[in-house]
This record gives sequence, C-alpha cells and structure tokens, in this order.
Amino acid sequence: MSKKIRLGILGGGGDSLIGVLHRVASFINDNYQITGAVFNPNLEDSLSFAKQIDIPTNRIYKDFDTLIEEELKLPAEERIQVCSILTPNFLHFPMAKKLLENGFHVICEKPMTTTYEEAKILQATLEKAGTIFAVTHTYTGYPMVRQMREMIKAGAIGDIQKVDAQYYQGWINPIIHEKDKRASTWRLDPEKSGISCCMGDIGVHAFNMIEYTTGMQIKSLLSDLNYLYDDNKMDIDGTALVRFNSNAKGIIRASQIATGEENGLTIKIYGNKGGLKWEQENPNYLYVMSDDKPLQVYKPGHAYNSDLSLDGTKLPPGHPEGIFDAMANIYLGVARAVRGEKYNDGEFPTMLDGVRGLNFIQSSVTSHQKGNVWIDLD
Ligand SMILES: NC(=O)c1ccc[n+]([C@@H]2O[C@H](COP(=O)([O-])OP(=O)(O)OC[C@H]3O[C@@H](n4cnc5c(N)ncnc54)[C@H](O)[C@@H]3O)[C@@H](O)[C@H]2O)c1
Repeated sequence: MSKKIRLGILGGGGDSLIGVLHRVASFINDNYQITGAVFNPNLEDSLSFAKQIDIPTNRIYKDFDTLIEEELKLPAEERIQVCSILTPNFLHFPMAKKLLENGFHVICEKPMTTTYEEAKILQATLEKAGTIFAVTHTYTGYPMVRQMREMIKAGAIGDIQKVDAQYYQGWINPIIHEKDKRASTWRLDPEKSGISCCMGDIGVHAFNMIEYTTGMQIKSLLSDLNYLYDDNKMDIDGTALVRFNSNAKGIIRASQIATGEENGLTIKIYGNKGGLKWEQENPNYLYVMSDDKPLQVYKPGHAYNSDLSLDGTKLPPGHPEGIFDAMANIYLGVARAVRGEKYNDGEFPTMLDGVRGLNFIQSSVTSHQKGNVWIDLD
C-alpha cells in the first residue's frame, strides 16, 4: 500500500487558473497521490481531463455529493483522506462543510466562504469534526515571508508601528469598461463570487499577510471601495486604513484596475528598531532596513534564516524557488498534520485565518456602504 496521502480534487480542471498550482504543489515533496476528483461540473470534461493528465478515471465523479457518497463506501485505507477545493468561491462552503461532516481533511482556496456567517458555521463544523483544515493563502508558504514572521517574532524590528500591504493587479481593466464583458466573468457576479471582488479575492491575501507576518490581529478598519460603473455590483479596487490594539496603524491597498500591474503584492512592516519589505514578484529577496545600518538583503536557504524559513527551501541558495514551491510548503505542512507529525503553526493557514479573512471582507464592504466609517473586527 502506498504511503502517499490520498488526495481528492474539486474544481481545478484544465480550464482553470489555480488547478495546476495545486496539482504540482501536491506532487512536490512526494506526499500525495491524486486519487479522485470532480475537476469540472461536466463529467465528460472531468473524465477527459483525468485522461489527459493520466489519472485513473474510476474515481472521477459527476459531482461532489457523489464523490463523498462513493468514497464513504470504500474501506478507510482506500478512501480519499484530504480533499482540495479549487472551485469558484460560492462552492467552497457547501463542499467544505459536507467534507468535514464526513470526516475528510480539507484544503480550501480563499476566500474560504462567501459570507462571514458561513465562515463561522464552518468553524463550528470543524470543531466537531476534529480534522485538518487549511486555507491556501499561498504567499505564506514563501521562505522569505516565513523569515519575516520569525524575525518579527524574535523582535528584530522592535515594536510594530506601521504596516503597509499593497496588492495591485490590472486584469479587470480590459473587462470592466465593456458591459457584456463585465457581465460574463464569475468574479464580478455576487452569486458566484460573494459580497466582494477585489477585497475578497486579493485584499484578503494582503490582510492575511499582515496578520501572518506580524502575529498581530487587526482591530478595526475604514475602507473606501471603487466599483467604477453603477451596474457593476462588485468592488474592483479598494483601500482600507487599519488599526491594531497597540498604537500601530496601517493601510491595505488592493486593486484589479491598476492598469498593467501583474501580481504586485508587497508587504512592508515597520517597527521602532527596523523595517522589513518583501515583494511577491521578487520573492527571494527580503529587505531588512534600519536607521543606522546599510540595507541588508536576506535570501532563502542560508543558515542565517530561521528553521521555519529553511524548512521551506529544498535546494541550496541561488536556486530560485517560486509560487509552486510556496504552495508545496503549505501542502507539506498539511501532510505532517494529517500524519500526526510535529509541525510549526506557521506552516499553513488554518480555519482561524479563513474566518478572520471573511471578517475582514465583510467589514470592508460594511465600512464602505455605511459611508466610510470605522468598523471593529470581532
Ligand atoms: N491562492 C491563490 O493565490 C489563488 C489564486 C487564484 C485563484 N484562487 C482561488 O481559487 C478558486 C478558483 O479560482 P480559479 O481562478 O482557478 O477559477 P477558474 O474559473 O479559473 O476555475 C474554476 C474551476 O472550477 C471548476 N468548477 C466549477 N464548478 C464546479 C463544480 N460544481 N464542481 C467541480 N468543479 C467545478 C471549473 O470547471 C474550473 O475548472 C477561487 O476561489 C479563487 O479565489 C486562489
């Protein structure tokens, strides 16, 4: 019997953006075997994709209810153990809930659900289930982001006084100005996407990066969102001022109409002893700034990095690793948790991150709708 963890995949078909990232990530580190799937809502498409990527077709199911029903008929040692949810947002909640209720471990794409209420229900479901649940805030898997977290925890930059997370993309600009185009993308459809597009899709990553790296929780926010057109129901750009319980303050800037930007996620954390800066498009450089020393650049794989950071590199310094490796690090953490092995709580974002994310998204929309007022997070 293979020692690999039996992985099921929901969504992530050949037509998807994120499917390949999860498939490759699950393969790196040799922990998982894709055992069953519903890659697409149409069975023929799912089967043909399974053949294309050479996965046995006997456990490709017509929908996720059937996947659960049929898998439960199998002996536990053959059954899918972990299921990854890579579908459009509105399916995350029903899929995750049913999987948890039936004893499966879950890896779920973000935003975890489409509403904060659903997120809290899912949290209660997980408490009963007692299985492992991860939310794929992929960027937390980068070695230099992990290094940031560990340096801040060790006091390297002192007390945090300013945070600035910016996530700028431009991909909605060619879509938003034409009525037909903006009506035909699922991310701009509240039924499929949830209450927010920009804050829900990428602002939430920026929010998570702040809480992940600083270890602090944002206490309140004031947001200003942009929809550009009256018939567009979803924010495509937004700014949120954020406050903590301490005197630290900061800003989350997110946009999908920052024309020409690709995947421009930048996080800057400033303390009274120094600052740290990291950019997703150059992920192997962590900039360490101070008042009285020249700029330092930390890179992955060197012994000066923390254990958590070093655990996320596989090759000696100078061999660039990227987004596939970052996601693989999250899958590695989940594999350890599923096997009951020791793992660091920074290895993968959990249900708490998912719930906090929905609290952020909901609060951003509410703040804007109420006329840009301060809203407390729970
Ligand atoms: N972690 C990240 O950095 C990151 C990046 C991109 C997307 N995402 C998230 O991943 C999810 C998917 O995004 P995407 O860009 O890949 O979307 P997509 O539209 O490109 O792909 C969605 C896939 O789900 C399939 N699907 C739809 N309905 C289904 C159903 N009922 N059963 C099974 N499969 C079904 C589609 O056929 C398609 O293969 C979203 O929640 C998104 O927010 C996360």
